[in-house]
Amino acid sequence: MKILITAGPTREAIDPVRFVSNHSSGRMGFALAAQAAKAGHTTRLISGPVSLRPPRGLQQTIPVTTAQEMFHAVQEHFPWCDALIMAAAVADWRPKNPGTRKLKKQDGPPAIQWMRTPDILTTIAKQKRANQRICGFAAEVGDPIPEAQRKLKAKHLDLIAANDVSLPGAGFSTPTNIITLLYADGRIQPLPKLSKPACARHILAALTSLR
Ligand code: CTP
Repeated sequence: MKILITAGPTREAIDPVRFVSNHSSGRMGFALAAQAAKAGHTTRLISGPVSLRPPRGLQQTIPVTTAQEMFHAVQEHFPWCDALIMAAAVADWRPKNPGTRKLKKQDGPPAIQWMRTPDILTTIAKQKRANQRICGFAAEVGDPIPEAQRKLKAKHLDLIAANDVSLPGAGFSTPTNIITLLYADGRIQPLPKLSKPACARHILAALTSLR
């Protein structure tokens, strides 16, 4: 397959020296890219800012910073792929008017106005061809299944990998993850605690089975 994978966080500028982001390390997305390439899939990786080296054997790595940049990159590469895996933790909000100068503390706490970033999966799913498959992630705190089921439907996904990031061994920078795979046909496949590469192989096998 031709597989497009997103990974890592996005960063949204507050001013030239500050940003808002999240705890995503990119490890899950990079493990997916590494395992996809290893299995012989032609793989492109769109990554937010992370401190990981791109895996070997990728056709292309596209670095991005903001949700808007990730959105443009996914739009550009989606028509090429057979399967999209959105492992990135995309910021949902960004400061509406980032300062062009560094905010000064003597000016007091900044009154930041927020605006929504594009929901990449929801927009892209509308452009999906019949033979393309899309997998999302639902990283939740507490039981992730109800939210994963909601997101699977709302974002028109074929597959979603759900995890409870508050469990030991399932968090952001951990080498392991505990995921449950939910399919559009209603199947639910819980997996034990596994290394991120092993989780990646299960996700890739699930996507392959859907083609
Ligand atoms: N996602 C996306 N575009 C966004 C936000 C999220 O494409 N602006 C994708 C993520 O890459 C992930 C899936 O949507 O595959 C679910 O992301 P998540 O942050 O869990 O869901 P949200 O829809 O943002 O809902 P909430 O933050 O309220 O849980």
